[in-house]
Amino acid sequence: MGPAVRNITSGPSMEILPEAKLEQANKLLGGLVLSDESVRKIREIFIDEINTGLDIHSEKKSCLQMANTYVPQLPDGSEEGEYLALDLGGTNFRVILLELNNGRQTKEIVKFYHIPDSLRLGTGVDLFDYLAECLHQFLEEHERLQDKFTVGFTFSFPMYQRSLSCGILVAWTKSFNCSGTVGEDAVQLLNNAIKKRGDLNLEVTAILNDTTGTLVQGAYLDKSTGIGLILGTGSNACYIEKADKVLSWEGERPADVSEVIIDLESGAFGDNGVLDFIKTEFDIQVDNNSLLVNSFTFEKYIAGKYLGELVRVILVRLHEEKLLFTGELPPKLLTKNTFTTRYVSFIEEDSINNKTENTKAILEEMEVDFDLEDVAVVKHVCFLATNRAAKLVSICLAYLLERMDRDNLVTIAVDGSLFQFHPRLRSLMETYIHSYAPKRKFALMMAEDGSGKGAVMVTAIASKLKQKK
Ligand code: BGC
Repeated sequence: MGPAVRNITSGPSMEILPEAKLEQANKLLGGLVLSDESVRKIREIFIDEINTGLDIHSEKKSCLQMANTYVPQLPDGSEEGEYLALDLGGTNFRVILLELNNGRQTKEIVKFYHIPDSLRLGTGVDLFDYLAECLHQFLEEHERLQDKFTVGFTFSFPMYQRSLSCGILVAWTKSFNCSGTVGEDAVQLLNNAIKKRGDLNLEVTAILNDTTGTLVQGAYLDKSTGIGLILGTGSNACYIEKADKVLSWEGERPADVSEVIIDLESGAFGDNGVLDFIKTEFDIQVDNNSLLVNSFTFEKYIAGKYLGELVRVILVRLHEEKLLFTGELPPKLLTKNTFTTRYVSFIEEDSINNKTENTKAILEEMEVDFDLEDVAVVKHVCFLATNRAAKLVSICLAYLLERMDRDNLVTIAVDGSLFQFHPRLRSLMETYIHSYAPKRKFALMMAEDGSGKGAVMVTAIASKLKQKK
């Protein structure tokens, strides 16, 4: 017998179930399958929301922020100097020291710091004081406390930028909710915390979203990069837009700026109800179980923070309908956020390899009694959740490719743990993007640490722009 066939893009079947049960399960899960008609409709809505978001005179309000990042150029090889970058967005905070020589990234030092719940959900002052404290620790450890650095700040939350060095926080997402910060400039909050200490010679001169960092780092790795995407704990995308389409420019747009990166804040797609037609009872529950209810609709359909939870609520519901796991459900499976997105990836690995080991190990870990029918159902549910996420994100990317209308290849730089560790998300996305934008040449490229290294590149670009002035 030859090796097992790796079935990358088609899902595992539940055929092992008796007919009546199979029919009932398919009916319950049917809402997770996006028809071609739904795909077409989502695309139309996405286009409409983009155009409305860019049109500052529109009376309608878009759910897409379409934020001007004020990043008007990509690295061109002339970036020089040593920069510090801070990357805040997940449960870890990163400090990066990176040296650029003739545009090349040479020496790099990175350190991660954990941000406990108490700080993520506490006051803004405490959070920013902690960031400054970590910077101090980092520089002390590397005996660089006396040196002066320009700092780039990757702040991966929706913000309204007034310039490259001013980002007003619009809302928190993911697992952050600090008081006294919405409506404030994150650069100023950080600069204040740094100054207050009096022992650091630092100035934050650029603020950016992680998607922007990823696009810019992508362009450093591959000149054809035109789109940045994050598929990690959260999700978002940015792309290069023609500057004359961007009216949200504070002050005068410099005459030589022809393009600028636009941050969609695509995680909020659907927050105005435009995607309610695809919302299932499971999505409503995931939303109700989340920290920030009624917001970030699209992110909750696709991102790593929510995909595992989506699978968990589906499994519990299937059990209620007596379609899965006989006997009582253990408290573990009944507790929110216990079924992680990493589990979804492991189970998907089983489906691809025609195996059951990972799935069984995870179900044991979740303390449920299961049989082979259950294993088949769990695998199928993980595929459905993954496949829907892949389709949704691909609809957006395919349209961005059309919108950019380039004859040449466009590279989509991606960062984030979901994309990195899921065994077939990438293949599914390649298949769907191709099918939704068949004439466009594109490549998906992992730009690991794009959000951190990209901050350095943006800071270097900001320095160049300042000198030019
Ligand atoms: C934030 C975005 C960010 C994305 C990925 C979302 O929750 O709103 O600004 O880019 O997560 O980190």
